[in-house]
Amino acid sequence: MKKLLFIFFISISIFSQKKSFEQRADSVLALMTLEEKVGQLVQYSGGWATGVETGKPTEGSDELIRKGKVGSFLNVVSSKLTGKMQKIAAEESRLKIPLIFGLDVIHGYVSTFPVPLAEASSWNPSLVEKSARMQALEASSAGIHWTFNPMVDIARDPRWGRIMEGSGEDPYLGSQMAAARVRGYQGNDLSANNTILACVKHYAGYGGAEGGRDYNTVDLSERNFRDFYLPPYKAGVEAGAGSLMASFNEIGGVPSSASKFLMTQILRNEWKTDAFVVSDWNSIGELIPHGVAKDLKEAAKLGIESTVDMDMEANAYYSHLANLVREGKIDIKLVDAAVRRVLIAKFKLGLFDDPFKYCNEEREQKTIKSKEIVDATKEVALESIVLLKNEKNLLPLDKKLKSIAVVGYLAKSISDPLGGWSALGDSNDVVSIFDGIKNKIGKDVKINYAKGCKITGNDKSGFNEAINVAKLSDVIIAVVGETRNMSGEASSRATLDLPGVQEDLLKELYKIGKPIVVILMNGRPLTIPWLQENIPAIVEAWYPGISAGSVVADILFGDVNPSGKLTVTFPRYVGQIPIYYNHKNTGRPHDPKNHYTSYYMDLDNTPLYPFGFGLSYTTFEYSNLTLDKKEIKKNESLKVFVDVKNTGTREGKEVVQLYIRDLVGSVTRPVKELKDFKKISLKPGETKHVEFTITPDKLKFYDINMDYVLESGDFQVFVGTNSVDVKETSFQIVE
Ligand code: BGC
Repeated sequence: MKKLLFIFFISISIFSQKKSFEQRADSVLALMTLEEKVGQLVQYSGGWATGVETGKPTEGSDELIRKGKVGSFLNVVSSKLTGKMQKIAAEESRLKIPLIFGLDVIHGYVSTFPVPLAEASSWNPSLVEKSARMQALEASSAGIHWTFNPMVDIARDPRWGRIMEGSGEDPYLGSQMAAARVRGYQGNDLSANNTILACVKHYAGYGGAEGGRDYNTVDLSERNFRDFYLPPYKAGVEAGAGSLMASFNEIGGVPSSASKFLMTQILRNEWKTDAFVVSDWNSIGELIPHGVAKDLKEAAKLGIESTVDMDMEANAYYSHLANLVREGKIDIKLVDAAVRRVLIAKFKLGLFDDPFKYCNEEREQKTIKSKEIVDATKEVALESIVLLKNEKNLLPLDKKLKSIAVVGYLAKSISDPLGGWSALGDSNDVVSIFDGIKNKIGKDVKINYAKGCKITGNDKSGFNEAINVAKLSDVIIAVVGETRNMSGEASSRATLDLPGVQEDLLKELYKIGKPIVVILMNGRPLTIPWLQENIPAIVEAWYPGISAGSVVADILFGDVNPSGKLTVTFPRYVGQIPIYYNHKNTGRPHDPKNHYTSYYMDLDNTPLYPFGFGLSYTTFEYSNLTLDKKEIKKNESLKVFVDVKNTGTREGKEVVQLYIRDLVGSVTRPVKELKDFKKISLKPGETKHVEFTITPDKLKFYDINMDYVLESGDFQVFVGTNSVDVKETSFQIVE
């Protein structure tokens, strides 16, 4: 009874708190002039609005704030600067409405974690949540209230540079990561001074850019969109994300920033969220080149009508919204609803109660680069690394080797390991891979370094030096890949080979006949069939963040056993793209005995590395895959059991993956769909009994009538170490 009463009071207080945010927003709204309302919907960059560099506002922005003509800034950092601007808003403007400061804290504020695609490769949502929590601690201490993350765009095309910012190709895994990041940023209490508002982006479908070219047209069937692309946005919203960002792309002929289908129908009517929507940078202005608005005024009208609440940088709302209302071209109710959503977010953050709660310089100093946060960058990076190949157990290396050749521009780089979107990440904090190796092995081992070549260009003049140092050494460690600016926004590539002459360098080193390990540093899948064929050991390090060198060295020398798995398929050649594991079967699945089936005449259909793939220094054996029932009704759940044994000699972590296939549907279904996973740790010889539950919700999809349902019939269940190497069983759903 006591417990029940407690729950009752808690729910009442949560309810009244929610109500009070809305009521409080309404009471502020009632006092606002039209101009002040518009002001809340305007966001400027610290640099752009004032004509000076980011983070240094001048008179221009002060005046805007004083007049209540701006509600938010991005790219203004530090508790001092944000505090200075907040003071004007909270003390000198008529209604004293606090500003909200946003920044792209994507994988760290100052202390840089691995890029998001790498973090997702940990298949460890609680670790990813911890990363977001740490990022929030740091950013909030520096005056940041709001991060433009998580980026949850599903991407099936690695030519698209922004694949690095997301969690890969799978809607289930992507949803887990989206929710984890929202929980991490927002914590349990958004009004605490160390939590920040999350922003689920880029809503929606941005990753479907045709040809993988950034900003390009997206045209997906509604079924494909809802089944594969939409779930992570929904998961982020359900985890309580306080905001979303509209994407740049059009989808099905309508740019997101003018899409009533996305904003009104799905977000407001179906998902019923009061999260506010910010446009992407000038995405309202881009409605003009998209060809749906003749001028900025019309663009503003389309934006607000579709319920894009805040205009980032387009100047459209600032210049035209008030007039559109006065001229009767838009209903003031639309503006009121948008302002209300923005105010609610400010109330939720507790900014009306204390606008300066994020502005404590002492706290900022103590928090930034604190041990807890820096240690976490390493912990996360260690689980993000994926071992792609390890012939004859070349790895881990013996620390007592006499000499090592470390080759490659990236081995000594201290900026590239930060990856793109690294906020205030500082290359001086980065441990290079070379230094990491040097620190690990001690003075008795000789390290011979040579750059070999740059990342791009045709210059092979450094090859000889690299060959010479390689000849002098017991083992060669070559660090190759992409510079940090080769992935991220506006960084699409039409080829995915190792850039420049890096592969030629590897071919020369290979000829020497010494053991050779390749460390890849990159933000997307690369097409490296020659490497897979010839190089005995390949480690995918991604952009690991500030702890790069120590983490790579821990893996190379076996202090840590790698446990990352790919969340995106690696193609053999660009011509296979889009290539993803959860594809449809087609009417003519490939049959080598039948020419008239779906395949390439000049290439295998299979990927270089499949989704979910990643090796360990130990081995795992799967057995006893069983189900608790072979037949269930539509409203029943099913349990799946499997035994996983560590059959090697080292302790290791394994990601146990559960896939299903719905064999016959009213519409075609994928050949495999990830439905659950568990990361477990096993001592040598240890066996763990792993259990999964398949709930009815996990089997739903959009049927022939576009209803989200579960259909009866036969299902296959697959459990294994990646999406290809699996054990199989089956069950049936009966009416
Ligand atoms: C990007 C967003 C980012 C915004 C603000 C845009 O160019 O697409 O992801 O949040 O800039 O920096």
